[in-house]
Amino acid sequence: MPEKRTVLVTGGCGFIGTNLVRLLVGSGGYHVVNLDALTYAANPLSLVDLADHPRYEFVKGNITDRHLVPALFEKYQPAGVFHLAAETHVDRSIVSADDFVQTNVIGTYSMLEAARTYWSGLSGERRNKFLFLHISTDEVFGSLGEDGYFSEETPYAPNSPYSASKAASDHFVRAYHHTYGLPTIITNCSNNYGPYQFPEKMIPLMILNALSGKPLPVYGDGSNVRDWIYVKDHCKAIQRVFENSKAGEAYVVGAGNERRNIDLVRQICDFLDEIAPPAEIHPLRERGLKSYAELIQFVEDRPGHDHRYAIDSAKITRQLGWQAEVGFEAGLRLTIEWYLSNLEWVKQASSGSYGEWIEKNYAWRALKEKK
Ligand code: NAD
Ligand code: DAU
Repeated sequence: MPEKRTVLVTGGCGFIGTNLVRLLVGSGGYHVVNLDALTYAANPLSLVDLADHPRYEFVKGNITDRHLVPALFEKYQPAGVFHLAAETHVDRSIVSADDFVQTNVIGTYSMLEAARTYWSGLSGERRNKFLFLHISTDEVFGSLGEDGYFSEETPYAPNSPYSASKAASDHFVRAYHHTYGLPTIITNCSNNYGPYQFPEKMIPLMILNALSGKPLPVYGDGSNVRDWIYVKDHCKAIQRVFENSKAGEAYVVGAGNERRNIDLVRQICDFLDEIAPPAEIHPLRERGLKSYAELIQFVEDRPGHDHRYAIDSAKITRQLGWQAEVGFEAGLRLTIEWYLSNLEWVKQASSGSYGEWIEKNYAWRALKEKK
């Protein structure tokens, strides 16, 4: 168990943030200060049970706030930062990149500036041990063909406005280490899935659309490949890096679960047929639905859609002994069961601006052909 340390987590009310805050608070070794603006992607129910926890504090605020952020460093004197706050949905970045530039680029810059000022004023052990951990994505590397893997050596080639904004933030982080010596580390992880993921992302979207009898929109021909990691494995990797790595490092993180989108959607349908058969759900039975797979529809492709992502995690395994623990099929079942057991959370996440946004913006999801 590490000594108890105060850490600043940004974006702790989002998907990965919620899982990470739970891991850190639960470990007993951290006092977590969570700075989150509570955008559409945050769900107030996600951490509601931690509200009065002695090792957890929530601050509602924006990472671009150049008064608030330095004041938080001053007040809490953190031993480190886990920087997760970001705009994260590729489809939204295609509709408009404004928020992505604001939060991912300018917000990261604001975090780095405040961290630099704070760290410059530290001395001794506190200065030597301070770390700014920047949580990034494998999408900064662009798209793979049928072969090969992303590693720490892969050149940056972001293709979407989202990945361009994350790449810009990674470059700022790297530059702050190189120029000012700020002790930073970057992790670039593959596609996460698991509890608390906002329903616009592929896996929860397919689960929840299926259960309510809505179409399952597969972009293009469904042959795009993603490399999936259970979110709790990613969070353990983040903790391992924070506790054991040294400044200036970068790690790619993945669990070696490549799946074509269409195969994954079919697998979700198979599991759902078993766990929540349509024949047992009144409106679906009325419609005569026999399998959720009947809801699959191929729709127009996402513009600029990256073909394949895949990670070679050899470095983090070799240097830090981290390995994913949750197999893909087990993780997918856990995820489906979590959504089935947390309908109040789903209701909260699906309310507000989400429905309107879909109606207004998903032009390319026009039906291509019926499966
Ligand atoms: P998310 O969209 O679920 O959550 C983002 C959180 O950040 C939300 O709670 C939101 O309120 C907060 N936030 C957004 N803008 C903010 C701002 N300006 N100030 C303060 N808070 C703000 O995101 P996620 O999927 O949990 O991703 C977290 C991080 O991990 C991101 O940096 C993302 O790029 C990275 N990442 C995600 C994945 C994935 O598969 N989800 C994979 C690799 C890396
Ligand atoms: O690789 C890491 C990245 O993974 C993270 O950095 C991003 O924040 C995260 O959103 C995710 O990006 P993707 O674009 O890969 O995830 P998404 O869930 O949006 O889509 C996964 C795949 O499924 C992708 O190939 C597009 C496809 N898709 C997605 C949706 C929402 C569909 O076919 N239909 C859909 O309705």
